Amino acid sequence: MKLCMIGTGYVGLVSGTCFSDLGNQVYCIDKDLNKIKNLNKGIIPIYEPGLSELVKRNFKAGRLIFTSNLAEAVHKSDIIFICVGTPTKKGSKSVDLKYVYNVISQISKLIKKKKIIVTKSTVPVGTGDQIEKILKKKRNKNFEVISNPEFLREGEAIRDFRFPDRIVVGSNNKKVFNIMKKLYQPLIAKGAKFFTTSRRGAELIKYASNAFLATKITFINELANLCEKLEINVEEVSLGMGSDNRIGGRFLRAGPAYGGSCFPKDTKGLVVTGDKQNINLSIVKSVIRSNHNRKLLLARRVEKILGKNLKHKKISVLGVTFKPNTDDMRDSSSLIMIPYLLKKGALVSYYDPSGKKKIFDKFKNLKYYNNIGKVCRKSDLVILHTEWDEFKSIDFKKLVKNKNFKLYDLRNLYNQDDMIRKKIKYYSVGRSNIN
Ligand SMILES: NC(=O)c1ccc[n+]([C@@H]2O[C@H](COP(=O)([O-])OP(=O)(O)OC[C@H]3O[C@@H](n4cnc5c(N)ncnc54)[C@H](O)[C@@H]3O)[C@@H](O)[C@H]2O)c1
Repeated sequence: MKLCMIGTGYVGLVSGTCFSDLGNQVYCIDKDLNKIKNLNKGIIPIYEPGLSELVKRNFKAGRLIFTSNLAEAVHKSDIIFICVGTPTKKGSKSVDLKYVYNVISQISKLIKKKKIIVTKSTVPVGTGDQIEKILKKKRNKNFEVISNPEFLREGEAIRDFRFPDRIVVGSNNKKVFNIMKKLYQPLIAKGAKFFTTSRRGAELIKYASNAFLATKITFINELANLCEKLEINVEEVSLGMGSDNRIGGRFLRAGPAYGGSCFPKDTKGLVVTGDKQNINLSIVKSVIRSNHNRKLLLARRVEKILGKNLKHKKISVLGVTFKPNTDDMRDSSSLIMIPYLLKKGALVSYYDPSGKKKIFDKFKNLKYYNNIGKVCRKSDLVILHTEWDEFKSIDFKKLVKNKNFKLYDLRNLYNQDDMIRKKIKYYSVGRSNIN
């Protein structure tokens, strides 16, 4: 099939590349011309394991085309996927749909023969209806608007695309399901569930899924606080609970507040949808509040570990992205923790395997080092913020020159008994050590 991905970010680039790897001809469009120029030179704009090789292979085979020629891409494609961002509107909690509607306005003039327009972006319920209305107003009838939300996770995006738990397609026209089923057939053949529903249903499934996962994380994070007081290990509680098939063990790992480009904005977006219908989604509201509080709670614990006066204390942070194997900083809890420590007068340094972060350039007392050894050497406190593989077996005793250094592990990456044996002053999450 011939496909056009509008928006070549985490979702558009990964799914476009994977669709081309299944033998489809894929046109990837982005308004960021630099991105397109770089992709044509083989430079990948994001950090996603395995993506570079896959892009190169399909680009070379001529199946994956990076272009800024929207008219040609739309003209040549049967299915148009909208993969642009849907962030939270500045100063409000509602979803900013301006990128989606900009795309609709652009393509409405270009559609000359029947096309399927797919919202792969996460959009509030009713957006598909709205798109249809806009297109109809332009006297354009050559289209079907459907919803096919994306569930891939950054850092594991290629695997997630290839082996999805389910593919959700929402349409008010049943004929379209067959075309979409044909497109996804190679994945269905390997066991992916093809789930069809109404367009509005599909839009809500995406928000409901993200809000539920965010709730699981927040639930275990609150229990972790209780475990610390009761001298119980939260990991044992997670395991005990998660072994129940009705609950499931995933997303029950205590740690920092959830972040990233989806959960924070999608939980807020869902609440706004509820409010508009006079439905009080009180659980999701308290998840948002609890998650917000957690960011500061974990930052403030540094004052318990190092003492109230953080002035000139040397703190190194290992990993700053919201999760490992991505360069994505959107809503990472490090964006709250690091400025908090700097404000208290600490001298903070950081290292992240995905590189230096532009967003931190504005801070005077914040330094980036390009390896673990350099960042840890003079620390009073090392904070493990993101559990990248390369942090799993660090010999802290050897690396840190300050004999009295402390280690604050926000991901419970290290074995507590090991740390006691090594005589490292070790603090983690949801265990009895932190009080
Ligand atoms: N990132 C994820 O893990 C993930 C997972 C599932 C769903 N989603 C959803 O997918 C959507 C995209 O997310 P993302 O993380 O890929 O965003 P992103 O910011 O990485 O990429 C969006 C891209 O769209 C481009 N763009 C914006 N307007 C455009 C236009 N008019 N024409 C062409 N290109 C345009 C931008 O330049 C950018 O490159 C969002 O709705 C998000 O909620 C994201």
